[in-house]
Order: sequence, then C-alpha cells, then structure tokens
Amino acid sequence: MGSANMEKKWLFPLVISSVICIFLLATSLNLGLVSSRHAINSIFSFFPSRVLANQSSLAFAENIVSQGPPPPSVPAIPRFAYLISGSKGDLEKLWRTLQALYHPLNQYVLHLDLESPVAERLELASRVDNETMFNTVGNVFVIKKANMVTYRGPTMVANTLHACAILLRRSKDWDWFINLSASDYPLVTQDDLFHTFSPLNRNLNFIEHTSQLGWKEEKRAMPLILDPGLYSSKKQDVFWVTPRRTLPTSFKLFTGSAWMVLSRWFVEYCVWGWDNLPRTLLMYYTNFVSSPEGYFHTVICNEPEFAKTAVNHDLHYISWDIPPKQHPHTLNINDTNKMIASGAAFARKFKRDDPALDKIDKDLLRRRKGSFTPGGWCAGKPKCSRVGNPNKIKPGPGAKRLRRLVGRLTLTAKFGQNQCK
Ligand SMILES: *[C@@H]1O[C@H](CO)[C@@H](O)[C@H](O)[C@H]1NC(C)=O
Ligand SMILES: *[C@@H]1O[C@H](CO)[C@@H](O)[C@H](O)[C@H]1NC(C)=O
Ligand SMILES: *[C@@H]1O[C@H](CO)[C@@H](O)[C@H](O)[C@H]1NC(C)=O
Ligand SMILES: *[C@@H]1O[C@H](CO)[C@@H](O)[C@H](O)[C@H]1NC(C)=O
Repeated sequence: MGSANMEKKWLFPLVISSVICIFLLATSLNLGLVSSRHAINSIFSFFPSRVLANQSSLAFAENIVSQGPPPPSVPAIPRFAYLISGSKGDLEKLWRTLQALYHPLNQYVLHLDLESPVAERLELASRVDNETMFNTVGNVFVIKKANMVTYRGPTMVANTLHACAILLRRSKDWDWFINLSASDYPLVTQDDLFHTFSPLNRNLNFIEHTSQLGWKEEKRAMPLILDPGLYSSKKQDVFWVTPRRTLPTSFKLFTGSAWMVLSRWFVEYCVWGWDNLPRTLLMYYTNFVSSPEGYFHTVICNEPEFAKTAVNHDLHYISWDIPPKQHPHTLNINDTNKMIASGAAFARKFKRDDPALDKIDKDLLRRRKGSFTPGGWCAGKPKCSRVGNPNKIKPGPGAKRLRRLVGRLTLTAKFGQNQCK
C-alpha cells in the first residue's frame, strides 16, 4: 500500500512535465520550423513514402515494418521506374520500346545481357549519351557492366533485383516498378498510365499469381537445377542435378506471369532485406527451374501485408497457343483488335518493326517514327524534342480502356483480405 502511494506521488509531476514538454515542442514546431498548416500536412503525408527512402538504419527500417506501409494515396502524379532488357540482336527493338515509353518524369534502366556483342552494348550506351533529351533530363541509365542472364534461371531474378536496386538509388520519386523486355510494347501512353494510376493506392502490386502449381509441382518445384550463369562467363543452359527435393513446408509456393507492376514499397522490402523472407526465398529459388515465374509471387503471397493488396493481373496482353507452348504466340497485325479490346497497358511479344507496332503507334500512341510518344509534356511539336511542362497530362484514346480494366480489377479485389489463393 505504501509503495502504491509513492508511485502516485511521482506520477503526478511526471505527467505535468510531459504535458508541458509536448506543448513546448508543438509550439516551437508551429512558430519556427513550419509556418503553415498546409506545410505540416504535406510533411506528414509525404513523410513515409518520400523520406523513408533515404534511411538506412536498421532500427528505423524495423520501425517501418511495425508501422506498416506508407499511407494509401498521395495526391500527385505517380511515376514509373522501368527496366527494359534485351539480349543479342535486340538493340533496335529496345530502342523503339524506349522511345514509345519515354516520359521525363519516369526513370529508365536499360540492360543488354552478356550474350549481346560488345559492339551492340556500346552502341546502346552511345545512343543514350547522344540523345539530347536524355542528357537534359538525365533519367535514362544503361547498365554498362552487363549481367550474364540465363533464360528461366535464377540469374534472371538477380538481374531484376539489380535493376531495382539501381532505380531505388537513382531516384526517390517513383511509385511503381515495371519489368519489360525489348519485345514488349505499350498500348497506352504514359499520360494514360499517370491518369489511370493517380487515384490508386500506391501500395498495390499487379502480379498474376496462383498456388495451383499442377504439373509444375513435379516439373518445377521438385527438381534441383544449377544455373551456370552464376559462375561461368560463357552462356549455357541450366542443368539438372539429383536427387530431387520435397515441396517446402515453411512457406507456400506460388507461380504466375513473369511480367508485373510492383509498388516501390514492395521493391524496397525485397531489396533492402530488413525482413529475412525475401532473402531466404531468393536462396531457395537459386535451384528452382523458371525462378522468374515464382520468386516475387511467393514473396508477396507469404507476407500478409502484401498478400492483402495483390492484384491478380499483369496488365499485359499475352496470347498463348492452345495447348500452351513454352513461348507465347508472336503477335501480328491480325491480333490488334483483341489486343486493344483487352484494355491492357502492354502487349508482348512482337517481332522487330512488325506492322502491328506501326498500327499501335498510329492509332493508340500517336507516335511518329523515330520520335517520342507525345503527351502533355511535349514542346517542340510535332516531334517532342523539348520538355515543356512535365506535369501536364493529356490522356489519349487508350486511357478509357485501361481505366476500365484497372477499375474492374481493383473493384473486385476485397483489399484487406488475403488475395492469394
Ligand atoms: C548523334 O546525334 C546526331 C543528331 O542529333 C546524329 O547526327 C549523329 O549521327 C549521332 N551520333 C551517333 C553516334 O549516334
Ligand atoms: C539521402 O540524403 C542525403 C542528404 O539529405 C543526400 O545527399 C543523398 O543523396 C540521399 N540519398 C539517396 C539515396 O537519395
Ligand atoms: C523481368 O523481365 C524479363 C524480361 O526482360 C523476364 O524475362 C523476366 O522473367 C521478368 N521477371 C523477373 C522476375 O525477372
Ligand atoms: C492475317 O490474316 C489474313 C487473313 O486471315 C491472312 O491472310 C494473313 O496471313 C494473316 N497475317 C499474318 C501476319 O498472320
């Protein structure tokens, strides 16, 4: 009883002095550091997504995890960070895709893998150096030290994570990461994308996924492979080793499309590694056939925080033969109507300079040969040779279809519940 009294005695002054401290702190904030209510609001709404990007202390990172992701919507133009990658002979395709996707507010990382000849990689670097627009804006980056990438091997995932890390380091101002290959092409302008994505929660991930592995359990999850791309400087296919392994029991496997639109929040989670899951799974996937079709899906779906906002779509139009072969059907002019009607943001795959691409340029992007896709930002018409007002958005004919698709996807998802099945 005596000790309870003692507690009360010192509790009272403590409470009073804390109140005074908080009061002093609040007034000094109000008078000195920030003067208007608007400024205070904007600091708080931008704090998590913009400022956190520049913190490296572990304690702080752990703090973020317990606090959860940045607040849902930031009323600004969303920005995209692209990885466009290619291999031997893909230079011209990659260049055209880059021109069609270019916008001064975005970030671009270009990568031609080690299989492409040195001359081709140098040509890409010198084209980027020589492009006045890229020099002025400074948002196109070429990975000069090319990676060895084995199709369907874990080196593909490593390459994607490498690009993510470069993009995180180069800019704190992007909201979504999009992984494309040189044989992909946009069906909408960047203005259409900005317009569609600006009301969306910045933490949504568009990743087509399923836990119904079917034949893949036997053929993908149980075999063990080695990817020579991890240690050899000569390109070779992955090879199989025995014995096989059993299915994992400490996490659930997911698979799906290797094309995705990932939130910055999720990319930071994968690259920074303040939680062990992305790293453990990366090691598990080192021996997995076709790791690009599973790594990100398995990470997202095994972390409840991300599983509850995973949108089950890759925003791509990809057409598979029936029965499906290893590669998707190569799109041509006869596919354009279906492609456009899908409302997707991107399509794949195309042959170099296929007439279908000219039709997309003409009807959907309004892009002239050899110039950038026009938009509200363009000055120096008609070729968009200069940046006018980069924040001006002029959605084109594709915006309505994309909005309808994205609206349908986000409407049917009951966010807050686990989206992974
Ligand atoms: C650099 O650009 C100029 C025009 O902008 C062009 O005439 C020249 O051929 C280009 N050089 C290279 C190496 O691409
Ligand atoms: C972090 O902030 C410092 C100073 O505020 C700046 O110099 C540095 O470039 C920032 N780093 C990144 C990765 O944005
Ligand atoms: C990323 O894009 C490439 C095409 O450039 C694709 O092959 C790959 O599977 C994608 N996904 C991952 C996880 O690397
Ligand atoms: C498109 O369809 C027409 C008529 O069905 C056919 O003759 C043509 O070969 C097709 N084009 C391609 C590129 O497949």
